[in-house]
Amino acid sequence: MIHKKLKPFPPHFLWGAASAAYQVEGAWDVDGKGVSNWDKFVRIPGKTFKGTTGDVAVDHYHRYKEDIQLMAEMGMKAYRFSVAWTRIFPSGRGEINEKGIEFYEHLINDLKAKGIEPILTLYHWDLPQALQDEYGGWESREIISDFTRYSVELFKRFGDRVKYWVSLNEQNIFTMLGYRLGAHPPGVMDDKLFYQVNHHANLANASVIKEFRKYVPDGKIGPSFAYSPAYARTSNPKDIIAAENAEELNSHWWMDIYAWGRYPKAVWNYIESNGLAPQIEEGDFELLSQGTPDFMGVNYYQTTTYEENPLNNGAGIAKINTTGEKGTSEDTGIPGVFKTVENPHLERTDWDWNIDPLGLRIALRRITNRYNLPILISENGLGAFDKLEKDDVVNDNYRIDYIRTHIEAMQEAISDGVDVLGYCVWSFTDLLSWLNGFQKRYGFVYVNQHEEGEHDLRRVKKKSFDWYKKVIASNGTVL
Ligand code: BG6
Repeated sequence: MIHKKLKPFPPHFLWGAASAAYQVEGAWDVDGKGVSNWDKFVRIPGKTFKGTTGDVAVDHYHRYKEDIQLMAEMGMKAYRFSVAWTRIFPSGRGEINEKGIEFYEHLINDLKAKGIEPILTLYHWDLPQALQDEYGGWESREIISDFTRYSVELFKRFGDRVKYWVSLNEQNIFTMLGYRLGAHPPGVMDDKLFYQVNHHANLANASVIKEFRKYVPDGKIGPSFAYSPAYARTSNPKDIIAAENAEELNSHWWMDIYAWGRYPKAVWNYIESNGLAPQIEEGDFELLSQGTPDFMGVNYYQTTTYEENPLNNGAGIAKINTTGEKGTSEDTGIPGVFKTVENPHLERTDWDWNIDPLGLRIALRRITNRYNLPILISENGLGAFDKLEKDDVVNDNYRIDYIRTHIEAMQEAISDGVDVLGYCVWSFTDLLSWLNGFQKRYGFVYVNQHEEGEHDLRRVKKKSFDWYKKVIASNGTVL
């Protein structure tokens, strides 16, 4: 559909950028902070690119004022960040660490003073290690009350100033990488446990949303889902059903439960007949239907194309590209269900991520058609090798192209009728990429941080910084 005239972005559109505590803060053992699962995992040899850790990250903990000053200079309307659970409750529960509260208090006040709307993520993957040791973290239903207690504390402390909240960041990714691929903590590969862990996370998500209504009645909350719309490789019905399987298993499985409190039938019957269904207790579905969100947070990076995957000798779990050597990722699948395949119509990044702006329009329309909820684009951006040139210049034209084309697609979707609350680019400053180290950069601001060699952590505005500044100032009319 081609619109003769595109709808303008709404007047209070949240033009922003995002980050996560572990990826930016550093100060991993400062001011009473407890140890998280990531603090521990990165110390296991071979787990991250060149053994990178977030011990220092980009030192946002000590440099947040400078970073916020840069956000203000850019004219940013919103900043999405996450709270490190271990700063608030070093052991996951029990005594509160006031020093941790203080840090976020200052961060939030500073943002507000500069007219930047804080968007607070409760959980962006850094689980208190104490809870992992004590009862297996997400593997136990005990996590529901501990996560709720922690979240309620934040609602009480910050609910008067923070009006936008993200509950869980990319539950589909942290559970998939943690419990299916074994690439994130706790490094497990167990399909049945994967579904059980997800059921607990769903209950925890619903529980905090339910509590949120009591403490922040005028706020908005939702999960951030990593949505990669499924395409079929050909019009062969076998490829079409493979893509449908992927859409249901990889996306509806999570978004249906968030939006409606129920699992999609086809997936439930599939996992049940394969002995993978989670244990459900009385009252679970009641809680799930009571904890539904105000918006769907969407982290969009790419689409995925699928084809038929035979049951016998079909493709299974495969290698992911964590080096930036183009073409080193392998197609992956579930035998008898689907298999991924390269899309010949799309360019790929050095990490083999498809570049597909139209996919964002498709994503936004599919979510709107199915759930009819407002959408917060809580992440979208390009990971690339940036080059710091002479006189501190970074010419990241490729990033400008990426973001521009995605903003255009978003505006098309708005013109289609999608209600988009805001757009957070991943990321504001460069930061630590979980498995890819500091070489995979996303920011508008270059941070001189590396695995090896000189790294004084200085901040350098990239070319995209000035470009996005104009986009914001013109409310998306100058791209
Ligand atoms: C999302 C996460 O999956 O994508 C971020 O929410 C992450 O934390 C981002 O950094 C980009 O992924 P990567 O692997 O390129 O760092």
